[in-house]
Amino acid sequence: VRDKNGTDQVLLKNPKGASVKISLHGGQVLSWKTDKGDELLFTSAKANSKPPHPVRGGIPICFPQFGTRGSLEQHGFARNKMWLVEENPPYLPSFYSTDKAFVDLVLKPSDEDTTRIWPHSFEFHLRVSLALDGNLALISRVRNINSKPFSFSIAYHTYFSISDISEVRVEGLETLDYLDNLFDKERFTEQGDALTFESEIDRVYLNSRDVVAVFDHEKKRTFLIKKEGLPDVVVWNPWDKKAKALTDLGDEEYKHMLCVDGAAIEKPITLKPGEEWTGKLNLSLVLST
Ligand code: BG6
Repeated sequence: VRDKNGTDQVLLKNPKGASVKISLHGGQVLSWKTDKGDELLFTSAKANSKPPHPVRGGIPICFPQFGTRGSLEQHGFARNKMWLVEENPPYLPSFYSTDKAFVDLVLKPSDEDTTRIWPHSFEFHLRVSLALDGNLALISRVRNINSKPFSFSIAYHTYFSISDISEVRVEGLETLDYLDNLFDKERFTEQGDALTFESEIDRVYLNSRDVVAVFDHEKKRTFLIKKEGLPDVVVWNPWDKKAKALTDLGDEEYKHMLCVDGAAIEKPITLKPGEEWTGKLNLSLVLST
């Protein structure tokens, strides 16, 4: 399919009717729907979908830099670039299964712009898959095809669609250390039981366990974020003031979104020539009665 700007998108469907939409612009997942047609990811009504601008919502990929921790543009360039569909994807034995609809995308530094600002030869392979049970998985493989090592950070900046920010809680981050972007990236330790929200939050939780849960009482649903190779978890909500300052987010929309990202930020990943790194994110939905 194509969007109104002519950008190619891929639509995955499972036999039960669940679906996932991925844009080649940024390799960004833009929609994840249940078999009942309920959208699980937030996208702003004011989102700008004109490349190179990433869409405010879905799952933009921050790579090879997270935020302003480096000399590149905020969150790196991967979310602004056009990715390609891989015609002959490699066989991935442990990820392959016949009950999944999937697409393989690849990002290679093709333009001078990218190589000038980040002079490394790499290939970023992304498999997005939708399972029969509706689970959405993103599997990334980053390969160094250069003769010198390089390091990178990565985050799947997942915008979950929620009923109301004051009604949700996040579990799985208790007692962890975190870096607080609102306090100059200073390190703190989480004291509370579960995270609830009453003001702006912008943190990187360090070395979290492999499953983090977002409970939405009002909608009676829970998102489970399972991750491998992604030790950190970003939690972001701009709240009212910051939302007003973001031109591609409505003033009140912050209430209906929460970003919880599987990420590798604090300790960047270093790849020697020929080495490959794999990171997996699996998102699932649990409904309660
Ligand atoms: C968060 C950052 O992860 O992403 C915030 O920590 C930033 O500081 C937010 O504002 C959104 O970034 P962007 O570039 O998509 O507006």
